[in-house]
Amino acid sequence: MKERTLTIIKPECVAEKHIGNIIQRIEKAGFEIIGMKMVRLKKKDAERFYLVHKERPFYSELVEYMTSGKVVAMVLEKENCVEDFRQFIGATDPQQAEAGTIRKDFGQSIQFNCVHASDSNENAAIESAFFFSTRELIECE
Ligand code: CMP
Repeated sequence: MKERTLTIIKPECVAEKHIGNIIQRIEKAGFEIIGMKMVRLKKKDAERFYLVHKERPFYSELVEYMTSGKVVAMVLEKENCVEDFRQFIGATDPQQAEAGTIRKDFGQSIQFNCVHASDSNENAAIESAFFFSTRELIECE
């Protein structure tokens, strides 16, 4: 069954002009982009998006980082999309990520890890709705 996930190309990755490379890899790996936009998150938006991490020591740094520049948000569709995309990008810490993954190739540290991905179907729906209205998403077959 087709699933969707939400991914974000993070500020340092956008600033380093890796958007094109990353999108090409995502498409070649068989993920269909059904929504895409570039935004600069405001502090209150980043705080809300990462509310689940509010009690973590890195929360304020994370909010500062995610508001430091433009990001590209995308909704992707594929069979087993959530799990496959997490495999495809690699571990949160780029040093632990497998060779050939996006985070291994473009990530700098556990914080500056170049992309975000939803960790469940439930969160994918919540995170997708954070960035996109229903009419902004392409209906695939
Ligand atoms: P992401 O997949 O977007 O989910 C939460 C983010 O918090 C994570 O990627 C990193 O950018 C950041 N993060 C996770 N762990 C740490 C950590 N130990 N120190 C700093 N930032 C972290």
